[in-house]
Amino acid sequence: MLTRLDPGQKPRHVAVIMDGNGRWAQRRWLPRAAGHRAGVAVLEPLIEVAGETGVETLTLYAFSTENWARPEDEVGTLMQLFLETARAKVPQLNERGARLRFLGRRDRLPASVRSAIEEAEELTAANGQLDLYIALNYGGRSELVDAARRMISDGLAPEEVDEQTFASYLYAPEVPEIDLVIRTSGELRVSNFLLWQIAYAEFYVTDTLWPDFSPEEFRRAVESFASRSRRRGGV
Ligand code: IPE
Ligand code: IPE
Ligand code: MG
Repeated sequence: MLTRLDPGQKPRHVAVIMDGNGRWAQRRWLPRAAGHRAGVAVLEPLIEVAGETGVETLTLYAFSTENWARPEDEVGTLMQLFLETARAKVPQLNERGARLRFLGRRDRLPASVRSAIEEAEELTAANGQLDLYIALNYGGRSELVDAARRMISDGLAPEEVDEQTFASYLYAPEVPEIDLVIRTSGELRVSNFLLWQIAYAEFYVTDTLWPDFSPEEFRRAVESFASRSRRRGGV
């Protein structure tokens, strides 16, 4: 079957690998922390434009399971920045009707971050304007391993494990399929992000460094998605 281009086709679920904060800072002779701060400032306009373009679910990669390998002071800055951002922005996000959920292993996160996560999820649980997922201490491989472990501990028989069952053991089984992945800073790799969920996602990679990523460019990514033909293995 020929899949016709649908210019009105909108991505419902967009996932973003927010990369390039360090290089943005380096180019300005600033410490990497300044790049991370500048990266946080992009979030509010991004969430607004996502809502305006009709995106229903936005997933943001904030900290990977591999990011613990960074120098201790950078990890500390990122955790601190996360806490500050949660304090400053969660009430606003709640007012605009966003529902926040976090993806990743929580055990290694500082207790203060864990409670901020729980509070944000609780506060926004009933909202329905935009689903906002933050991948924090997230790894695609850890997610698959955690799913396998839970299936085994639930005593599932091999024949009970199919794609549907597997998907129901992921961190957020309710999340719709990812339509579009955006990666900034020009890197052509997935970096352990949502390995299961991106099976048929479209990609938009830009050389723009994350702190320079604008709502206009988000719109361009969405327009580029609208012109794609998603064959999903068909013709
Ligand atoms: C993305 O920017 C932020 C995180 C991974 C937390 P980077 O810190 O990876 O910036 P670059 O890639 O070094 O420029
Ligand atoms: C991916 O960026 C992780 C996040 C954006 C949180 P990285 O900078 O960690 O990925 P690599 O090192 O370029 O693969
Ligand atoms: Mg990077």
